[in-house]
Amino acid sequence: MEVIEILREASKRIYENVKDLAGTDDAAGDFGIGAGGDVSRNIDIIAEKTVLDYLKEIDFECVVLGEECGRVEISNKPKGFVIMDAIDGSANAVRGVPFFCSSLAFATENKLSSITDGVITDLSNGETYWASKNKGAFFKEEQIKVRKKDPIYKIVGINTSGASIELMNKMRPIFENHNHTRHFGANALEMAMFARGLMDIFIDLREKIRIQDIAAGYVIVKEAGGLLLDGRLNPLDADLGYDTRVSFIAAASQEILDEIMSQISK
Ligand code: IPD
Ligand code: CA
Repeated sequence: MEVIEILREASKRIYENVKDLAGTDDAAGDFGIGAGGDVSRNIDIIAEKTVLDYLKEIDFECVVLGEECGRVEISNKPKGFVIMDAIDGSANAVRGVPFFCSSLAFATENKLSSITDGVITDLSNGETYWASKNKGAFFKEEQIKVRKKDPIYKIVGINTSGASIELMNKMRPIFENHNHTRHFGANALEMAMFARGLMDIFIDLREKIRIQDIAAGYVIVKEAGGLLLDGRLNPLDADLGYDTRVSFIAAASQEILDEIMSQISK
């Protein structure tokens, strides 16, 4: 079985197991602080267990790097890492806001740039985005590309959750310049939607995002033809560590990147 098929099947099983849970009291149960540093909710734990059980069932030779469970060695001769954010957008999932997803990626080395496969499933409806290195990005079996054409409405995704006053002040012109700014609350799904051409640029300059939240989006955005840069506008890369936090910008073209970045105060 190809790695991408394994990740797709694992995502499908997450959807089956959590689809009726979002927004219920049961979703919120508190399991203490997870490896990623946030409270693990019952819905996070159920989703992670679904993946771990499946990978064990098929004896997939890997090490899992989960946002809640931390590092789990499924095999002692691993072929690589499964980077798992079983529920991205946990706050939305717990409240029942229909914008949350699962994000599963496979990397051969301890680097973001070694990711070969990624799957993001919109858990509000089961729709899946996926990509494998050099094979393109897909949404519901159709190949997807970032939007290169001039849009009717330019949509600028910006993650402002917990952003500092300094950062908000720097970004203020973007909000003032009549861009249609959006922030939905699940970075992985926002990256997938960007890759599908529903946004023209997606910016997260908070230096807060974890590897688990962007790993699958990394390969999906790249395979859809997007530019993926760090906060200094260098190609995005990082270690797959639990302490790693990054800023990133996903842009459909150099033109929109220059246009939006020129609005950020120095
Ligand atoms: C969160 C989401 C959210 C972002 C947070 C992440 P989680 O992931 O991606 O959009 O603003 O920084 O922690 O905790 O729901 O997996
Ligand atoms: Ca999560």
